[in-house]
Amino acid sequence: MSSENAARLARRDSKDFLWWKHGIVYQIYPRSFQDSNGDGVGDLGGIIDRLDYLEGLGIDAVWLSPFYRSPMADFGYDISDYRAIDPLFGDMPTFQHLLKELHARGIRLIVDYVPNHTSDQHPWFQESRASRGNARRDWYIWRDPAPDGGPPNNWRAEFGGSSWTWDEPTGQYYYHAFLASQPDLNWRNPEVVEAMLDVLRFWLDLGVDGFRVDAIHHLIERADLADNPVNPLWHEGMDPAAQLLRAHTVDQPEVHEAIAAMRRVADAYDGDRVLIGEAYLPLDRLMAYYGAAGDGFHLPFNFHLIRTPWTPTALASLIAAYEAGLPAHGWPNWVLGNHDRPRLASRLGMAQARVAAMLLLTLRGTPTLYQGDELGIADVPIPPDRVRDPWELNVPGLGLGRDPVRTPMLWSAAPNAGFSSGEPWLPLSENWRDIHAERQAAVPGSLLNLYRDLIALRRREPALWGGAYVPVASTDSLLIYERVAGDDRLLVILELSGRGGEANIPAGTVLLTTDGLASTPPVGGTVKIPPNHGLIVRLQR
Ligand code: NOJ
Repeated sequence: MSSENAARLARRDSKDFLWWKHGIVYQIYPRSFQDSNGDGVGDLGGIIDRLDYLEGLGIDAVWLSPFYRSPMADFGYDISDYRAIDPLFGDMPTFQHLLKELHARGIRLIVDYVPNHTSDQHPWFQESRASRGNARRDWYIWRDPAPDGGPPNNWRAEFGGSSWTWDEPTGQYYYHAFLASQPDLNWRNPEVVEAMLDVLRFWLDLGVDGFRVDAIHHLIERADLADNPVNPLWHEGMDPAAQLLRAHTVDQPEVHEAIAAMRRVADAYDGDRVLIGEAYLPLDRLMAYYGAAGDGFHLPFNFHLIRTPWTPTALASLIAAYEAGLPAHGWPNWVLGNHDRPRLASRLGMAQARVAAMLLLTLRGTPTLYQGDELGIADVPIPPDRVRDPWELNVPGLGLGRDPVRTPMLWSAAPNAGFSSGEPWLPLSENWRDIHAERQAAVPGSLLNLYRDLIALRRREPALWGGAYVPVASTDSLLIYERVAGDDRLLVILELSGRGGEANIPAGTVLLTTDGLASTPPVGGTVKIPPNHGLIVRLQR
């Protein structure tokens, strides 16, 4: 291990430098990262082959989407054995090797934890559905039909249809927030809680550094099964699940007890293990997920950059509201993309994707990057015969499908962009020859090099990883703020409108621009900011 890596790992126990606060998280969607055995699907061995890339990028932690045993109805988010590696991805020795190699490079590993539901192939569900009297019947949510024989209420599944599926042999419905093949566990049953906490212990014992907790706001539903109200914004052609407000199916008060139990398990381990919660909620609701007394998530994922209109005013208000809403013990975090949401390059265009990278990596709070965003991979159109996402298959044509954002990483000019020697499970971006990693690595100012420079700068500059966020009056086109540590002030100016702008700034030295060309010309006074341009300036002391 290099001395730098050893120093990074040694920092893990230092209370004034918590890795999950100051580090940068990189999400790997294993199916699409790197295939090592030619079956067209990425795997753990493939990730091991690409460790140099991760180290070169400079990230501090990898969050790995599920690699557990699964029938793959929802590509691993339907787990049939929480303690086993699916053969598609590898085996336990390969996982342990990956963990060891990441740690040797000073990179932590966060794994996915899917507590809301199992696969219908999980032995617990098989037992539960075997008979009404089965000891595990109450491990899932079974209910009698409504008087007309239909589902118990109007709740809708996220991936289409009712969230109740009829089980003929036992004459009851079971509840599922997602697919019928993803039955919800009953977290009101203490045996379920204990069994699921044991899953955490299993992976913590193996040495993982934390968990990204899936769909946490779905964990508990209202006990009296009241109908969900109609969404006042209901219209034909909208996501059918969103036509009703999820008033009684998400964000129920009891969820916080379950999170606190998870937190107690994580806190019992040394090494600052982290819990990151996935909850798509308005800011005021999201803050509760830190826990009333620091007994919630270390980081409830903040997805609001994905949803907020991309204007200086809207973003400045978002940041202000988020900063103001954080509880005293809450550390901020920011996300620009993941395997469920449209790609950054498609949402904003390539020019703004560079500005967005500078925003993400200069805001106060832990940034999470999604694999491929650093290459500018855009949503890839999927021909109908190649659609794989069950959401698109169940609710076609509304643009809900997530295949376009899950296409393979683009590594090199080799066949299939070096992703696989076989036919990739999803098509590659058409422009892969122009944007693959090997090519971008060789081009100064490429998006990949901009990410590397931004990450390196963030790691170097205490004002960026730890300093205060201080807003500066923004304009129609410019979002402006400072990051401040002691008397060190870094000014960030981001042109978002594509029209250019003008800023009046104190004298300083440019540390980095979105052209990626690090230079140090002095600036100050009235400065013209070209369209789609960003810069970071160290102000004179
Ligand atoms: C959120 C995950 O990110 C998504 O991919 C999955 O389909 C659902 N939760 C269900 O587990």
